[in-house]
Amino acid sequence: MQQSLIIIKPSGVERGLVGKIIDRFQQKGLIIAGLKMMMLNEEILREHYAHLVDRPFFPSILSSMMASPVVVMCVKGKDAVTVVRSMVGVTNSRNAAPGTIRGDFGMSSQENIIHASDSEENGIIETNRFFRPEEIFDYNPVILRYIYSQDELK
Ligand code: PPS
Repeated sequence: MQQSLIIIKPSGVERGLVGKIIDRFQQKGLIIAGLKMMMLNEEILREHYAHLVDRPFFPSILSSMMASPVVVMCVKGKDAVTVVRSMVGVTNSRNAAPGTIRGDFGMSSQENIIHASDSEENGIIETNRFFRPEEIFDYNPVILRYIYSQDELK
C-alpha cells in the first residue's frame, strides 16, 4: 500500500469544502491513516515548497497557506499517489478536468483547494513532515475485502 499526504488548503477550509473533499477520498476506497487541523508556519512551508522558494509567487504562497488553518490527511491505498493526483486535477484549477476536486471547486493556480504528494517517496517524506509517528494509524478496516480482491490485498 502507498501513502499520500493531502493538505486541504485555506481556500478549501474557508470555503467549507472539508467534508466534501474527505468524502470523495473515502468513497473512492482510500483509507484515512491520519487526519488533523493545524496552522502552518513559514518554517514548514519553506521545507515543503523548497523547490519553489526562488519563484516570484513564493511570498504569495506563504501568505495564502498561512491565512487560516489547513486540514492535513494521510491516505493509504494501492497506487494511492497516482489515484489521489488523478482525483485532484492539474495545478491551475481553471484547466482541471470536471470531476476532479480542483476542476469542480476551483478557479485558481494558487487558491487551488488542495495539495497532494507527487511521488511515492514524497508521500512518505511529506507524511513525516506533517505528522508525528503516533498520529498515523495502521489498521485494516473490514471493508478492505470489498474494496480490493484477495490477490490485490497480498
Ligand atoms: S510548477 O510551477 O510547475 O512548479 O507547479 P507545481 O509543481 O504544480 O507546484 C506549484 C505549487 O505552487 C502553487 N502556486 C502556484 N503555482 C503556479 N503559479 C502560481 N502563480 C502559483 N501560486 C502558487 C500551486 O498551488 C502549487 O501548490 P501545490 O500545493 O504543490 O499543489
